[in-house]
Amino acid sequence: MRRSPAHRPLLATLKGERQSIPPMWLMRQAGRYLPEYRALRAEKGGFLAMALDPESACEITLQPIRRFGFDGAILFSDILTVPMALGQDLWFETGEGPRLAPPLADGAAIDALTPGAPDTLDPVYAAVEKIAGVLPPEVTFLGFAGSPWTVATYMIAGQGSRTQEAARRLAYGDAAAMQRLIDRIVATTIEYLARQHESGVEAVQLFDSWAGTLSPEQFERWVIAPNAAIVAGLRARCPELVIIGFPKGAGAKLVDYATQTGVDAVGVDETVAPEWAARALPAGMPVQGNLDPLALIAGGDTLARAVDRILAAFADRPHVFNLGHGILPDTPIAHVEALIDRVRGTR
Ligand code: CP3
Repeated sequence: MRRSPAHRPLLATLKGERQSIPPMWLMRQAGRYLPEYRALRAEKGGFLAMALDPESACEITLQPIRRFGFDGAILFSDILTVPMALGQDLWFETGEGPRLAPPLADGAAIDALTPGAPDTLDPVYAAVEKIAGVLPPEVTFLGFAGSPWTVATYMIAGQGSRTQEAARRLAYGDAAAMQRLIDRIVATTIEYLARQHESGVEAVQLFDSWAGTLSPEQFERWVIAPNAAIVAGLRARCPELVIIGFPKGAGAKLVDYATQTGVDAVGVDETVAPEWAARALPAGMPVQGNLDPLALIAGGDTLARAVDRILAAFADRPHVFNLGHGILPDTPIAHVEALIDRVRGTR
């Protein structure tokens, strides 16, 4: 589905056109800090059930748009839908996080994985179509997927891990098996994002949440190369689609990522000095970020100063205001409102 043409400030910025007031959205803007999300979750009985129910996914995607008027709406889903399509079972342990079975402990387990039913991701495309039909015209619609390295860390460990050690060990111990897994994730992700675009999203974000634990050589092989392959695959199939890359924790490696993957825009996390990013990234390239989610929780002067520093640093570039990582569940709604007022200059 193609949405009606309209001026969408976020989409224009991602295409390289600076706006005097930066458009904004927040990673994880649909979620547990919103009372209306918690109410629906209690009724529907869980996150995954909602993510795979097009009506619930549509409602939750729209909640932060109604409440705050953000410039972008991000599809309510998860990066772990791709492992489901590749044949793993996914569930969420209450209070703990995702579980994937069987874990891919070695090359034999990787090769034994048989793809799930071909219609596994259909509820996601149905949700996208529904949302595209009702989203206000000035709001940009964002889809997303996890980047192959980050998705592989969950597939290999069968759950989240702080150090991604199982995946890093496999990447050294059996690089050929790791490559086979990454290649499968790349192929599925190209198809997944192309179908999201064909169903109605105008831009997509590639979340590489665990890019920060890799050595430079490993970063080139497991972050830059697979993201570049996804970008190339999407360019061939969807020339209009805008792509944001977010290699969290990349630090100085952000520059190679920005120049070598072919993404249109880069997300910057909160550990990066915005002045450095503004200087170091290619001229004219749109940047997105990079408020510390904890500064948002702190609020008050701390929040105001942090926002002003980011706005000043990115004053000469196309800039999308965002957090450096997802909004935390205990973030006060009043602080989100104060943030919006500060960015838009109404207070
Ligand atoms: O940004 C958005 O609002 C869109 C929806 C979205 C979710 N997850 C919903 C979600 C997006 C873009 C994601 C991305 C995601 N999911 C990432 C990459 C970004 C990041 O945060 O690093 C990762 C690593 C995941 C995997 C995942 N999903 C984990 C580790 C967890 C459990 C931890 C947690 O935050 O609860 C989830 C669950 C999840 N995904 C929730 C939401 C709203 C919480 C579900 C709930 O308990 O209601």
